[in-house]
Amino acid sequence: MKFVVTGAAGFIGSHLAERLSAQGHDVAGIDSFTDYYDVALKEENARGLDVQRLDLAVEDLELDGVHGVFHLAGQPGVRSFGDVFDEYVNRNLVASRRVFERAARAGVRVVFASSSSIYGDAERYPTPEDTEPRPISPYGITKLGCEQLARAYAQGFGLEAIVLRYFTVYGPRQRPDMAVARIVDALARGAPFELYGDGSQSRSFTYVADAVDGAIAAMERAPAGAVYNVGGGAEATMREAIDALERISGRTLELLERPVAKGDVRRTAADTTAIARDVGWRATTPLDDGLQAQWEWAANRVAAS
Ligand code: UGA
Repeated sequence: MKFVVTGAAGFIGSHLAERLSAQGHDVAGIDSFTDYYDVALKEENARGLDVQRLDLAVEDLELDGVHGVFHLAGQPGVRSFGDVFDEYVNRNLVASRRVFERAARAGVRVVFASSSSIYGDAERYPTPEDTEPRPISPYGITKLGCEQLARAYAQGFGLEAIVLRYFTVYGPRQRPDMAVARIVDALARGAPFELYGDGSQSRSFTYVADAVDGAIAAMERAPAGAVYNVGGGAEATMREAIDALERISGRTLELLERPVAKGDVRRTAADTTAIARDVGWRATTPLDDGLQAQWEWAANRVAAS
């Protein structure tokens, strides 16, 4: 089958494109290679993949013969206050609206990568999908807007869309602005890590291979209109994640305490009952195994540099 993966040079997108290719599918990758982080890393992610440079906010997706679109492209990161908001609006809302319209007209199913950040500081933990969304970051607001756009295009134009709310995905190639990527890099280089807050904030950390499994299962088996949390089974605090990485690496992390970052939630905990029930997905990678894989990946890169 033929699939489009938008954001194919990104962290989750490159893993997904590789997996689909390994399964024998024809994969057309799309990426605009924005400079949100070092473009060289994206070029490295895209090596061996077919990735076309295209800005979805202004250019059209080619969907002839395509069975499904995994729409992962977007402006990421919850620490998103300030004038950067225009980029969030453009790369999330404007671009996704165009993708949804093209897909609806072509009758092509879309799996859209949304975010746990749409919940903000949630009313319930673990958080099921019907919890009231009340994002506290501009980023989360644009992701929620994208979800609503998908729903509007489903209602008005018959778009077949499935929304996946990813919870803090980690693993090899993780975006360099994210916590685990910074921690393993700091450990490998003997550099300090800036911890925002006291480390008691917690996350449903989700290993990237599990995130990829969830996307493929949703494309294959989810009912149109479904909205699912895709989150790791074990919630951990930042302190616990740091302790685990110190144990795994056999090194001590130098911590620099910084104020809590605006837009950061205190806690995420995914209730994944719905996706388990409907498509049989659940996270299977224990946190220690995933952190070990990311540590080895980062340590090898630092050693080779
Ligand atoms: C992550 C992604 O960055 C978002 O794109 C995604 O949408 C979101 O997960 C999600 O779950 O929806 P976040 O949970 O903030 O957002 O992930 P990290 O950047 O890895 O941060 C985890 C925690 O570590 C946060 O409390 C953050 O404040 C902290 N952190 C991060 C630090 O203490 N220091 C840093 O240098 C970076």
